[in-house]
Amino acid sequence: MAKKTLDGAKQARQDEFYTQLNDISTEMHYYKEQFKNKVIFCNCDDPYESNFFKYFAMNFNFLGLKKLIATCYRGSPIANTQLSLFADEPIEDRTTKAPHKIEITEVNDYNGDGAFNLADVEWLLANKKNVLTRLDGDGDFRSQECIESLKESDIVVTNPPFSYFREFVSILVEHKKDFLIIGNTNALTYKEVFRLIKNNQMRTGYTNFNVGMYFFVPDDWKKYHKIENGQKLVRVSTSCWFTSLEVKKHKDYITLYKKYTDEEYPHYDNFDAIEVSKVSDIPMDWEGVMGVPITFLDKYNPEQFEIVGITKTWDGRANKIYPNQTQIGTDGSESVVSKLNDGAVMKIDAPPKNKTYYVVDKNYYIQLYVRVLIRRIGATQ
Ligand SMILES: C[S@@+](CC[C@H](N)C(=O)[O-])C[C@H]1O[C@@H](n2cnc3c(N)ncnc32)[C@H](O)[C@@H]1O
Repeated sequence: MAKKTLDGAKQARQDEFYTQLNDISTEMHYYKEQFKNKVIFCNCDDPYESNFFKYFAMNFNFLGLKKLIATCYRGSPIANTQLSLFADEPIEDRTTKAPHKIEITEVNDYNGDGAFNLADVEWLLANKKNVLTRLDGDGDFRSQECIESLKESDIVVTNPPFSYFREFVSILVEHKKDFLIIGNTNALTYKEVFRLIKNNQMRTGYTNFNVGMYFFVPDDWKKYHKIENGQKLVRVSTSCWFTSLEVKKHKDYITLYKKYTDEEYPHYDNFDAIEVSKVSDIPMDWEGVMGVPITFLDKYNPEQFEIVGITKTWDGRANKIYPNQTQIGTDGSESVVSKLNDGAVMKIDAPPKNKTYYVVDKNYYIQLYVRVLIRRIGATQ
C-alpha cells in the first residue's frame, strides 16, 4: 500500500512536466505537410502557459492550419495568475487558472519577440474570429465538452498527464484521431500501446529515443537538474514522441550485416526464439523469431520485420512453465520465487558473477529484460 502511494505521488509529479518550445519545434520540423489545413487540439494545455499552444499559434500560417483549439485543466499548478481577459467577471475569478478553451482560426502575421504571454493571447483575441470561453467543467480531457472539441479536431498534439497515458491514447483511438504526443518509453510495453505499434497504428517520432528531454517543473520543486532563465528543469531520460502520423525513419531498412552462429545468438529456454541483445546485431540470415530490446521499436520498419509479441507484459508466447525457483541475489541472498515465468530466460552453465540468477533442479538460469519478439519479412537493408 505504501509503495502504491509513493508510485502514485511519483506519477502525479510526472503529470507536471511542461514541454520546452525547442523540443516541440525540433519534432514538428518533420510534419509540415501532414498539418496543412488541419484542426489541431492541445487538450492538456493552458494557452497562457503551454508551449504547444504557443508553437501552433506562432506557426499557424506557416503550417497552414485550419484551426487551433486548446483546453486547460483546472489543477495545473504552473498556471499563472495573471488577470485574464474575462473582464466582465468578478476580479477574484479573473485568473487564468480556471478551466477555459481557446479557439484560433485566424492569426495575423505574428512578429513577436519569442516570448509569448498574456499580451500575445490578448492580441490573438483582438481578432474576433478567435474565441476564449470558460469551460463548464474542469477541463478533464475525458469530459464531454473536451470530447466535443476532440470530435471536431484532426490531430491531437500535447504532452498528456503520464498517469493517464493509457486512457488518453484509448480515447484518441476510439475517436479515430491522429496524434503526436509525448510519453515515456516505458509506455511502449503497455498492452494498449504495444498493440497499436504492432498493428502499425502508432510509432515513435523523430526525436532521438535515447536522449530524453528536459521539462519545466513548478517553482516549488526541490529536485531538478538545472535552471534556465529562472525556470527549473528536470531531465527525463525515458521520454519520447508517439504518433499515428507518417514518420519517414520507420520506412528505412535496418542494415543487417551479421551472420547467425549458435554461439553468438543463444536460444531462450522458454521461448522459441534467439536472443539478440543489440538491434545492430540482428542476423541477416535468421528466418525464425528473435528477441530484441525495446529500442528496436524506434527503428521498426513494418515492411522489414513483423512483430510477433513482447515478453514480460503480454502475448509473450512462453512455451514452458517453471516450478518455483531459488533466486540468488548479487549479495548471495536466497529466496524462493516464481519470476522465471515472467519473461525470456536463458539457461547457463555456471552461476554468473555480479548478476541475479535462478536455480531449478540444479540448473542455472538468468532472466532478460523485456524483449520484443520479431521476425524478418523484408530485405536485409
Ligand atoms: C505533463 S503536463 C504537460 C502540460 C503541457 N501539455 C505541456 O506539455 O507543457 C500534463 C498537463 O495535464 C494536466 N492534466 C492533468 N490531469 C488532466 C486531465 N484529467 N485532463 C486534462 N489535463 C490534465 C496537468 O495539470 C498538466 O498541466
